[in-house]
Amino acid sequence: MKLTKWGRIGSSKQDGAVVTKILSLAAHKGGVGKTTTTVLLAHYLSSNGYKVLVVDNDAQGNTTSVLTLNPDGTYVPFSTIITADLYQEGLDGSVEPIHCSYGIDVIPCPANCDRFRQLSSEHIKTPWIFSDNLNDLCQQYDVVLIDCSSNYSNNVNAALVLSTHVLCPVKMTGHGIDGVLGLMKTISEVQSRHNHELKFLGCFLNLMESRGKRIQENSNRLREALGDDMLKNVLHRRPPIDTIQDEGGTLAELGYAHVAVKEVNQLMEEIVERLYA
Ligand SMILES: Nc1ncnc2c1ncn2[C@@H]1O[C@H](COP(=O)(O)OP(=O)(O)O)[C@@H](O)[C@H]1O
Ligand SMILES: [Mg+2]
Repeated sequence: MKLTKWGRIGSSKQDGAVVTKILSLAAHKGGVGKTTTTVLLAHYLSSNGYKVLVVDNDAQGNTTSVLTLNPDGTYVPFSTIITADLYQEGLDGSVEPIHCSYGIDVIPCPANCDRFRQLSSEHIKTPWIFSDNLNDLCQQYDVVLIDCSSNYSNNVNAALVLSTHVLCPVKMTGHGIDGVLGLMKTISEVQSRHNHELKFLGCFLNLMESRGKRIQENSNRLREALGDDMLKNVLHRRPPIDTIQDEGGTLAELGYAHVAVKEVNQLMEEIVERLYA
């Protein structure tokens, strides 16, 4: 499949060939659960037989820290390619991911990566360079997850140019709705300028607190505003979810996180359903 600044060409299903789903996890707000959802979804997909690549498109490198941690406490070493390289022209054929535990492949970003942070707007003003560099590799996977940085930046644009879908976790605060509306603007700009086939998979509420009348009212308003773009399932604040972000591994392996496992699986099923709808 060829990518150009005019959009994805030949990405529809042809001759029964399975087309890679490329899902960006994006939100203009930090701390809403993009990285957490990327990690949970990568584990869910991989354990259900999907071949998964994760691209850590955030200078913080949090996804990389979680996914490169082996069960024995050691870390998977980086090979030559890190995400910052994907913004340089002419990487043809040399884009190799690292192979992490649980069968998940990763294009890593070192923690607080200086090279990523110092990418000048000059480097990333042409968002299809990222796509051109990743496109061939993506075709080897069923699902590619791109964990995006929080701020509005050209890195997010670059991810959306390559993506088939975008998913937005929302933390229900007073400004939660503004964050969603901001992202919707970015998405429609990318749809009209670069990627006509980009689909908004939807938003879901994360870090929900069961108590709190105001939170309930705000989330009801957001549901009304978004209609079908709001997923049915939510994630509550569950301490085991935070634990695996620190310690690696899966929720199921903790052995005591049955409620969280059930809630996460229901959300993941709904995400996969929408991805393949
Ligand atoms: N449902 C949840 N339950 C408990 N902790 C969560 C949940 N979702 C996210 N967190 C925690 O909240 C913090 C921010 O989440 P993170 O995924 O890093 O956000 P983002 O990538 O959007 O900046 C992390 O410490 C993470 O472990
Ligand atoms: Mg993050």
